[in-house]
This record gives sequence, C-alpha cells and structure tokens, in this order.
Amino acid sequence: MGLLAFWLLCISTLNKNPEVLGNEDVLRDLMPQQVRFHSLDYRNVLHWKTPPYTNQNLKYFVQYKVYGDRQWTNVTQCQGTSQLSCDLSQQTSEPREWYYARVQTAFPEVRSGWALSPRFNPQWETSVSAPSVQLNVTEQGIKVRLRPPPSPYRRRQGSVISTRKLQKLMFRIFITHNGVLQETREVDGWVTKLLIGDLNPRTTYCLQAEAHLLRQGRSGTRSNPICITTL
Ligand SMILES: *[C@@H]1O[C@H](CO)[C@@H](O)[C@H](O)[C@H]1NC(C)=O
Ligand SMILES: *[C@@H]1O[C@H](CO)[C@@H](O)[C@H](O)[C@H]1NC(C)=O
Repeated sequence: MGLLAFWLLCISTLNKNPEVLGNEDVLRDLMPQQVRFHSLDYRNVLHWKTPPYTNQNLKYFVQYKVYGDRQWTNVTQCQGTSQLSCDLSQQTSEPREWYYARVQTAFPEVRSGWALSPRFNPQWETSVSAPSVQLNVTEQGIKVRLRPPPSPYRRRQGSVISTRKLQKLMFRIFITHNGVLQETREVDGWVTKLLIGDLNPRTTYCLQAEAHLLRQGRSGTRSNPICITTL
C-alpha cells in the first residue's frame, strides 16, 4: 500500500475513531510544498510542489489575501487546477502592498490543509529584466534607444504600464571593444535615447544593458551584446 493510500485510509478511519491519529498531522502531509511567489517584471506567479509521497495528477485550489485582511479570496482561474503554478499578477497589482497566498491539495475524497506562502511584496521582490536595446551609428557616435520591459498591467484605456512606472530604475550600459570594457554608463530609467560619443572611427563596439533597482540595490540580468561599427 502506498503511503498516500495509507493516509487516505487513516483519514477515513478518523471519521469513525478520532483518537487514532492527530487529524492535523495527516492533513499536513497532504499539503502542497514550498509555496512561494516568483516575480519577474511584476509578473507575480505562485509556485508549489506536489505533496510528499505522491506523484499522480492532483488538483489544487488557490486563495489569496492582502496582509491585514481577515478573508481569503478564491483565485477563480486556479480552482481545481492541475498546474503547479498560478499567475496572481492581477490579484497582486498594488506594488507596495503585502500579499499572502495559500494552496490546498484536493484528493478524490478529501482536501489537505492549506499551505501558506511567505509574505510577498511585489515591489521589493520582483526582478526587472534587461531593457531592449537598439543601436544606430551616426557621425557623432552610437545612438542608443532603450526600452524597459513592460509590466503585466494596463491602463484603463488599454496601454501597457512600463516597469519603470512602478519603481525607480536605473539602466547600466556596458561598452566593450574586443571583449575589453571601455566604458560604463548609468542613466535614469526614464532615459530612452542617448548618444555615446568620443569613440574611435571604424571600430566595432558591443553594448549590453541591465536594469538596476535603486531601492533594493539589485540588478537584473544583462541583455545579450549587440555590436556596431562606427563610421
Ligand atoms: C471558494 O471556493 C470554495 C470551493 O473550493 C467554495 O466552497 C467557497 O464558497 C468559495 N468561497 C467564496 C468566498 O466564494
Ligand atoms: C536604426 O537601427 C535599426 C536597427 O537596429 C533600424 O531598423 C532603423 O531603421 C535605424 N534607424 C535609423 C534612423 O537609422
């Protein structure tokens, strides 16, 4: 008999004979494991792992609440889901707020206890991916166009809200030649165009960019290098 079948038997026995086992211990072993948020560019996704000793397709129920609320709210799109993740971006859309989520395993006959996530603050915990970079070469040097990644949020009129709108960003630009760093530029996250002058003519330079979160002192991953030859 598998351990899961054993637990389910224990639970069904419990109904008749409550002293046999601590009900709570059994329900805890059926709970999803390692429930936590992962967040990139404010896409806030709750992840979890299957309960121990199980490997079949189980169903999960997800709820969330704002820190301080008494009531939990069902996450409509993740009721009875068989996925091991649930995108809660729309439920956790206030960047400075603190959130909790919890997940329950549903077996055919019984539901587990709720497995609680750590407290989650989107602004503090999200990572910001590299801005998109476009290069053009002119007589003055290399013109760089930067575009920060979009967040999953939209304004009422439908336009996408940029990650730089949600928190203070800085971009770092790394300029290399033959693999040797020539220069690093730091610009505010609102800068969309800049000119890199004082470069050698007919020389190939490569640029990479990353976003830096000022409040957290953290940087996201760097973009792939893009190379261009000056005039
Ligand atoms: C949440 O979903 C459960 C079913 O999983 C249902 O019994 C309950 O009434 C729902 N709660 C609310 C507040 O809608
Ligand atoms: C700038 O470069 C891009 C390719 O990186 C090109 O599509 C675009 O036409 C160029 N713009 C100008 C004004 O030269």
